[in-house]
Amino acid sequence: MAQDLSPIPELYVSYDSALKLKAEAGNLTSHDLTPRQICDLELLMNGGFNPLKGFLTEADYDGVVENMRLASGALWPIPITLDVSQKEADTIEVGQDIALRDQEGMILATMTITDKWTPNKANEAEKVFGADDSAHPAVNYLHNQAGAVYLGGPITGIQQPVHYDFRARRDTPNELRAYFRKMGWRKVVAFQTRNPLHRAHQELTFRAAKEAQANLLIHPIVGLTKPGDIDHFTRVRCYEAVLDQYPSSTTAMSLLNLAMRMAGPREAVWHGLIRKNHGCTHFIVGRDHAGPGNNSAGEDFYGPYDAQDLFREHQEEMDIEMVDFKHMVYVQDRAQYEPADEIADKDNVTVLNISGTELRRRLAEGIDIPEWFSFPSVVEELRKSRPARAKQGFTVFFTGFSGSGKSTIANALMVKLMEMGGRPVTLLDGDIVRKNLSSELGFSKEHRDLNIRRIGYVASEITKNGGIAICAPIAPYATTRRAVREDIEEFGAFIEIHVATSIEECERRDRKGLYKLAREGKIKEFTGISDPYDVPQNPELSLETESVEVDNCAHQVILKLESMGLIKG
Ligand code: PPS
Repeated sequence: MAQDLSPIPELYVSYDSALKLKAEAGNLTSHDLTPRQICDLELLMNGGFNPLKGFLTEADYDGVVENMRLASGALWPIPITLDVSQKEADTIEVGQDIALRDQEGMILATMTITDKWTPNKANEAEKVFGADDSAHPAVNYLHNQAGAVYLGGPITGIQQPVHYDFRARRDTPNELRAYFRKMGWRKVVAFQTRNPLHRAHQELTFRAAKEAQANLLIHPIVGLTKPGDIDHFTRVRCYEAVLDQYPSSTTAMSLLNLAMRMAGPREAVWHGLIRKNHGCTHFIVGRDHAGPGNNSAGEDFYGPYDAQDLFREHQEEMDIEMVDFKHMVYVQDRAQYEPADEIADKDNVTVLNISGTELRRRLAEGIDIPEWFSFPSVVEELRKSRPARAKQGFTVFFTGFSGSGKSTIANALMVKLMEMGGRPVTLLDGDIVRKNLSSELGFSKEHRDLNIRRIGYVASEITKNGGIAICAPIAPYATTRRAVREDIEEFGAFIEIHVATSIEECERRDRKGLYKLAREGKIKEFTGISDPYDVPQNPELSLETESVEVDNCAHQVILKLESMGLIKG
């Protein structure tokens, strides 16, 4: 495929115009960008999302959702949309210019609003992600985080989002194009990753480059990846540790601030278009590329080679060639990696492989990771940021009706954990939180969500810093509990415990006399009486309290924590 390394269009105005525009934009209505929108805006402005000139208009959105094409007919598989709340949308008119600000309030761009509409999110989920199933992280985002209204229109770029980390390793498409021009790299194969590189990856990237007779660009994602992934700081230190295993004259590494959607086949095509914009001629697509994990029925969202099939179908038009991923395994007898499907004598040799799950288990339990699998420097980095589970922070999150026994069990658990020692323990009890952190909040859905998000935020900070957080709010909404889980699982384990005392029993006990008041209508929106409670579907533990002592309930939690490797027996 022909390589064209001339600069691609960016959406930035000149430095002088940017200064002027920035001053004027101070008077415009502002939108505060979410982390995902900041990633999208950066790639819109620097040409990574070429040919897009802004957030999608309604016509472009419809085309992209229905048949992966913009209104112009150009191929584009993922909707790049500016979602806002209904309340914010009501303050913005079509025809108006707005300022787009980062989370510190810096104006990055202005946008002329040409379109404003309420999308059919269920349809978007079905068409783009293959199922309207909230087990898919992007579908969950669509329904539970993204605003109800989309704004579309062209962008005028003022400045790039500021990055304080790994600046020298971040390149715009035009910077990479210029680098390839300077180095005389006529063929470049890009390797996309959201995981640390181990020996198998090194081997497969080598082979891919050799096969395509191309130079190699390691192009990892440092924007947003799948919830639960290893943070990009750790990963970049790992990448840097393996980089000198590659010959420097043939290989480069650059960081891509992309917000992944985990959309499998459509995502692979999107990744290819983005790499084409960065000046690459080839792109490695593996088994289950950008796969989101299991759906709510426990099955894969996409077939393992759907991404390769869709890419192949469009590669001519995309003008970037796919190099399909070889599944590399270690052949012990020859002490080398070989593609699994090319081992002619596989019945007579010992083939070794460590899966991602097995690697996580070994890291979590502090078990040896052999040198044939990874580089010692990479393992060392991983162990530094992910100590064995028994040394990590974690959060125990009790949920259940008022009077179910959450606080009593949580207190008993706290004392038992403090007796064991080793990590600081903090109890965030419902009542205590409402007196301190959330004293101004009531019990509407909005206020309850805010209350739980605050608890989740504090618990995630505690978990991140190696402590144990015990939370004991009612937390009646499953979506909010899930959001808190995702925040915390970035840093350590989240153990959801349903204190499953029935509403009848809670009302019979009525320790605080609140149920009586709720029945009399003197307390409104009372959980279980006049307000909903979503029973947890897959808690780590469910406690029956009706015929069991508090001490025994707390002990069941301790046993659970032991079985998860979080405390040593
Ligand atoms: S929530 O939904 O998670 O924000 O609720 P939470 O902060 O855990 O509630 C703390 C205590 O508030 C008392 N209370 C009510 N509960 C439910 N509904 C209504 N309307 C209400 N009004 C007051 C109740 O005693 C909760 O304490 P616990 O410890 O759960 O008994």
